[in-house]
Amino acid sequence: MKTKGAILWGVDQDWSVEEIEVGDPVAGEVQVRLAASGLCHSDEHLRTGDTPVPSYPVLGGHEGAGVVTKVGAGVTDVAEGDHVVLAFIPACGTCLMCSTGRSNICDKGANLLTGQAISDNTFRVTARGQGAIPMCLLGTFSPYVTVNEASVVKVENQIPLEKAALVGCGVTTGWGSAVKVADTRPGDAVVVIGIGGVGINAIQGAAAAGAGLVVAIDPVAFKRDSALKLGATHAFATVEEAAGPLGEATYGRMAEKVIITIGRTEGHHVLGAQALVGKGGRIVVTGMGDFADIDVKLNLAMFTLLQQDLQGAIFGGSNPRADIPRLLKLYEMGLLKLDELITQTYRLEDINQGYADMRDGKNLRGVILYDDADY
Ligand SMILES: NC(=O)c1ccc[n+]([C@@H]2O[C@H](COP(=O)([O-])OP(=O)(O)OC[C@H]3O[C@@H](n4cnc5c(N)ncnc54)[C@H](O)[C@@H]3O)[C@@H](O)[C@H]2O)c1
Ligand SMILES: [Zn+2]
Ligand SMILES: [Zn+2]
Repeated sequence: MKTKGAILWGVDQDWSVEEIEVGDPVAGEVQVRLAASGLCHSDEHLRTGDTPVPSYPVLGGHEGAGVVTKVGAGVTDVAEGDHVVLAFIPACGTCLMCSTGRSNICDKGANLLTGQAISDNTFRVTARGQGAIPMCLLGTFSPYVTVNEASVVKVENQIPLEKAALVGCGVTTGWGSAVKVADTRPGDAVVVIGIGGVGINAIQGAAAAGAGLVVAIDPVAFKRDSALKLGATHAFATVEEAAGPLGEATYGRMAEKVIITIGRTEGHHVLGAQALVGKGGRIVVTGMGDFADIDVKLNLAMFTLLQQDLQGAIFGGSNPRADIPRLLKLYEMGLLKLDELITQTYRLEDINQGYADMRDGKNLRGVILYDDADY
């Protein structure tokens, strides 16, 4: 079908909203009419080239939810009319990782940045007649997507889809970074560095898991205020400002867990996190930056002597099929805030403004809404 999408044609260029062709679902695929797409920082990494791609054009977007409009042969999990959240990592359920409880690193994620559909290794999207790489094999910067059934998770019809969209990446990633990967325990002191669409949910997760101190660090005052409203007990502009008060509040023990969710995470940020984590503590790296960055700063002696732990985290260590419906249930119960995460909504045509606002620190999350004018 002909529709439109926000396309990148090269590094450091703006998103170009133009006509694209989205193919019909083949066996094992579904087509989804999206209600909304979040503006995650990971798409900004595509634009700046920090995340390299093998070719252009690229169709952005990986945080979406909508209604199934077509199903290909053999699809049994979902039917036309079902409401679904798109998981930014597919979960096939049968590979080694999925079958050992680690579906956030499902083997079907191998082609996430090459754009070749899981079903048949061809491109499902074309722009100006050329095969386009849909971000995370989704491409939610388009009102319609055709994706593998491994990438969709059915959700309850009464959940507002524009809120549910955020659970396809930022919410699950942040919450899971605190609850699962950091393994926050009651009474822990937890620090979250970088309060965007991901970090704000690490704050919510840490508070829900019973952390005694939840410290938010972000240079932007609006982010710090937002964190204090959604579960943080303290907020500081920098690691340096946080160190003294954190030491006092923990009788010198410092934090059990520090989670890095900085928009463009760099190797030296790990040393900053280490300055706040105590003996036996854990640093979780969720934020991303330049794919080529191999220069991590860490005090090795302290790392060994204090038996610290440095842990990467993708999709918050979560299992999309179990955790996306569970997080939406928490939302219904009032235990997870989603409405408050959407600072500003945009039309697809205004996507460059949306990312400018993100860079300017104005949004917890900006969200593109789709309606009849787009379909
Ligand atoms: N690992 C995963 O599964 C996963 C999933 C989604 C996003 N990400 C990554 O997580 C990061 C955060 O994404 P987001 O969408 O929340 O970004 P965002 O732009 O919404 O938020 C980033 C925040 O970091 C703050 N910041 C910048 N420099 C800082 C510093 N030195 N100290 C403290 N705070 C600082 C900014 O003010 C901003 O509030 C990105 O790198 C993104 O690519 C990872
Ligand atoms: Zn994301
Ligand atoms: Zn799998």
